[in-house]
Amino acid sequence: MDMFERKANRGPTSLPLFGVLLVVLVITGVFLLAVDNLATQTKTIIGYNLKPTPWHEFPAKNFNNETKIARASKIIQCSYLSCGILSLNDQIPFTRKIERCPRFFRWIHHDLEPWSKTGITHDHLMEVKQFASFRIVIISGKLYVDYYYDCVQSRAMFTIWGFLQLLKRYPGRIPDVDMMFDCMDKPLIERNSSTTPLPIFRYCTTPEHYDIPFPDWSFWGWPEINIGPWQDEFESIKEGSQKQSWRNKHPYAYWRGNPDVVSPIREALMQCNDTEQWGAQIMRQNWTREVMEGFKHSKLSNQCDHRYKIYAEGYAWSVSLKYILSCGCVPLIINPRYDDFFSRGLFPKRQYVPISPLNICPSIKTAVDWGNENPIKAEEIGKAVQNYMENVNIDRVYDYMYHLIVEYAKLLDFKPIRPSSSFEECVDSLYCFADQNQTSFLARSATTPSEAPPCTLPQPANRQIDKMIAQKAKIIDSIQLFM
Ligand SMILES: *[C@@H]1O[C@H](CO)[C@@H](O)[C@H](O)[C@H]1NC(C)=O
Ligand SMILES: *[C@@H]1O[C@H](CO)[C@@H](O)[C@H](O)[C@H]1NC(C)=O
Ligand SMILES: *[C@@H]1O[C@H](CO)[C@@H](O)[C@H](O)[C@H]1NC(C)=O
Ligand SMILES: *[C@@H]1O[C@H](CO)[C@@H](O)[C@H](O)[C@H]1NC(C)=O
Ligand SMILES: *[C@@H]1O[C@H](CO)[C@@H](O)[C@H](O)[C@H]1NC(C)=O
Repeated sequence: MDMFERKANRGPTSLPLFGVLLVVLVITGVFLLAVDNLATQTKTIIGYNLKPTPWHEFPAKNFNNETKIARASKIIQCSYLSCGILSLNDQIPFTRKIERCPRFFRWIHHDLEPWSKTGITHDHLMEVKQFASFRIVIISGKLYVDYYYDCVQSRAMFTIWGFLQLLKRYPGRIPDVDMMFDCMDKPLIERNSSTTPLPIFRYCTTPEHYDIPFPDWSFWGWPEINIGPWQDEFESIKEGSQKQSWRNKHPYAYWRGNPDVVSPIREALMQCNDTEQWGAQIMRQNWTREVMEGFKHSKLSNQCDHRYKIYAEGYAWSVSLKYILSCGCVPLIINPRYDDFFSRGLFPKRQYVPISPLNICPSIKTAVDWGNENPIKAEEIGKAVQNYMENVNIDRVYDYMYHLIVEYAKLLDFKPIRPSSSFEECVDSLYCFADQNQTSFLARSATTPSEAPPCTLPQPANRQIDKMIAQKAKIIDSIQLFM
């Protein structure tokens, strides 16, 4: 009886046990599959499951130091659970009065003119998508990003951080918008008779391209080379520049940078390293060593000790321009082919001296001799350009973004909707993905709601800008030798 009872009992208990085991197995399997899917499919701001941009290759990021489970849990936490449902998108009344934008804001109209008649259609965006590394969609103050390709270093993170800070700065005032963005260096959409204008945002452009320039990531920081947010860097450079009066600075030109970036101009510049013969000192920046030695030699505020500072474009435009222009020295700019959003307002002989790309060393020598013989005029150029940069402060950078996005959004002939493959990004999702260094750089450039309204946008002046482009080209072509 005893045995019978036991037997009778075993039947019904072993069946559920088997069932439970099966369910556990299935759940585990589904879970592992889901983990695998998350870890190998989800595209993220730090480059998981994204290939480098094919139009500008760079070594793919390597995440082999993480387990799949660790990666999946990071993705669940950062991509899916960081951004709350509530969003603070109520307008905050302004308490300070409105200011006027700098004149170079006129370029916003000029950049968008190609679509002023046709508007910007959904088809335009789908066509230019092939050149985009990500797509930004803003709806009711929330930011969604659709990732297509990875960006080098932490460009994507700091660029998207800039958008999030803009939303924080002007809550309830950023219109719904849908924009394609490429985070790499070179403009791609040529202005020629056989191309339809396609709108894509990037960090630089040229007069021969439709690409729309947008403030680059370094305004919020560039942790890989220890560059802090723009407002901090500008202040410390300006302070550094005032350690000596212009006349007491070294009476020759200085350049410090990385010549190994596929830039024939920087290679040619290496030949001018002779303060007697060419009036120039050229220093090679070895970033590997700088990183190892804690950026001892690359402090920007210690690089304003010369009367003249040379700017040489790299692979395309270079982030270094704004720091060079902030020094109060006379900028000697070689062949400025690329423009970023603010540099288009600079004019040769007023804010800088152009240097012939065909004749770099003699051209530098001529400029340096001219300046040393005309110190009043030269010093004025240095002052003028430093003032110019003071007006490109971070408030104005946000205002530029604001006006550009507002004007662009007016041209969209469709209502932006959230792409199904996009992810919401918010301050917390970025902090979640950021490593320790990135976190501290992000925190340093966090903003608060603006007390003043965005500055007043100047009226369109597109034909004047065309004229200015032509004048500028003429001066640069005729090369500066007689000032
Ligand atoms: C793994 O490497 C990546 C990039 O090289 C880095 O960002 C990340 O912090 C590393 N993760 C760990 C757990 O060390
Ligand atoms: C026009 O621009 C496109 C790229 O945007 C380029 O592929 C094409 O060769 C250009 N055509 C002419 C005639 O320059
Ligand atoms: C240029 O000359 C200085 C000394 O005159 C030297 O320290 C520096 O390494 C030289 N730069 C290059 C790129 O060779
Ligand atoms: C840069 O510095 C590192 C470390 O000191 C060294 O190994 C490397 O060869 C240097 N690179 C160049 C181009 O001088
Ligand atoms: C953070 O920066 C320090 C100092 O520049 C560097 O030694 C360290 O490797 C960096 N850590 C990460 C995770 O990038």
